[in-house]
Amino acid sequence: MSSSKAGPAAGSAAAGTRRDTLSITDNRTGRQYEIPVKNDTIRTNDLRQIKVQESDFGMMGYDPAYTNTASCTSKITFIDGDKGILRYRGYSIEELAEKSTYPETAYLILYGELPTRAQLKDWNYHITHHTFIHESIKKFLDGFHYDAHPMGMLISTVAALSTFYPDAKDIFNPESRRKQTYRLIGKMPTLAAFSYRHSLGMPFVYPDNDLSYAGNFLNMLFRTTELQYRPNPTLERALDILFILHADHEQNCSSTAMRGVGSSHVDPYSATAAATAALYGPLHGGANEQVLRMLMEIGSVNNVPAYVKRVKTGEKLLMGFGHRVYKNYDPRARIVKHIAYEVFDVMGRNPLIDIALECERIALEDDYFVTRRLYPNVDFYTGLIYQAMGFPVTMFPVLFAIPRTSGWIAQWEEMLLDQEQKIARPRQVYLGYDLRSYIPAEHRG
Ligand code: CMC
Repeated sequence: MSSSKAGPAAGSAAAGTRRDTLSITDNRTGRQYEIPVKNDTIRTNDLRQIKVQESDFGMMGYDPAYTNTASCTSKITFIDGDKGILRYRGYSIEELAEKSTYPETAYLILYGELPTRAQLKDWNYHITHHTFIHESIKKFLDGFHYDAHPMGMLISTVAALSTFYPDAKDIFNPESRRKQTYRLIGKMPTLAAFSYRHSLGMPFVYPDNDLSYAGNFLNMLFRTTELQYRPNPTLERALDILFILHADHEQNCSSTAMRGVGSSHVDPYSATAAATAALYGPLHGGANEQVLRMLMEIGSVNNVPAYVKRVKTGEKLLMGFGHRVYKNYDPRARIVKHIAYEVFDVMGRNPLIDIALECERIALEDDYFVTRRLYPNVDFYTGLIYQAMGFPVTMFPVLFAIPRTSGWIAQWEEMLLDQEQKIARPRQVYLGYDLRSYIPAEHRG
């Protein structure tokens, strides 16, 4: 759901007569209710007083997929989907992508402020010194088939981390949370890279503490016989920016999984495994993989109109288009498109870019997409960059999961410290049978 912000002059009541309430008349009973409004929002629990009979449960809100229900208050990420605005802790995504680094942005997302020089040094030290994983994790990885999807391996191994760090269960201890944060941010790239190397049958490459966060990740993925791996600076910076763009996105499917699972007070590794699983789906972080598969299926620029036709009849989705929140160009997609050309300058032009550009051109002019306000989202161009950098498509969602870990932890911690939060437990509208009597098998028709 979109970030909601109360306007200073919301409501039409003249100054002085304005009441921040909502009046409801229940036409079933003729009774009237006045419900408080705060931040353009009512508390659906206030509806529970609306009853026909005293014995009724009371009125609820019905909102499948939470399209208009705020499940929390948050100070982390602001999105205005109509205007195409994304900000972390008040800083615009454009400015962070230009001036910040992923570790600095992760710190900002987690702790609310840009770090001082000393804080950044300390933060970099800790996330760099928590990159190693227990040697036993390698044994789990060895158990996977050579063609196991790296997201499956990542979900399993991050869940397994909880068995190595029982202190992580101490979730209300700030020191423990800080330690698990260092470990999660530090180890996710190692787990991801080891999964990749396993799929190639290549030996694992251990972290190199002299490299940057993104540079070390490239080292663990691609180093072969070099004594010391030196990442290409353009690719290193491109990956770092992509990490910044993916660091958080308020209450999306995987953050909601992180908060929901975390609300049972499980350790953060188990909750992160759940969030990673949510991200794996093709409608969420798995979309970048599907975009590439779609572009390969389309095959040539000439085939784009026929493909778009199939999309319009509902036979296909145009992957990488549309967003629950953005009804305008996704601001991240604009930055990604720019980075694509910088990466192509180093690695050569990805021929699929022409098919992508043609899809975008046709879609942005076509009534089907215009009326539904479907624009390219972040996933539309990232796959082209990842492919140009040499990643197989199955690694694409993994490249989303690594930076999103900072957002997940920030959302999890905010949920834990929010006095209003409890174990997540939605209601349902039961439409099934009333009480029935058991019928023995021999009497069933
Ligand atoms: N291609 C064709 N039609 C689409 C698409 C698309 N990619 N996305 C939405 N529509 C149509 C949809 O069929 C519906 O049409 P109608 O009103 O005639 O029934 C209308 O647009 C509204 O779509 P919706 O499914 O109600 O929108 P939603 O908010 O439930 O879904 C979405 C959002 C992202 C799941 C969806 O747009 C989609 O499936 N996109 C493709 C997958 C994708 O690119 N996902 C990545 C999202 S960005 C990364 C992330 O944050 O995870």
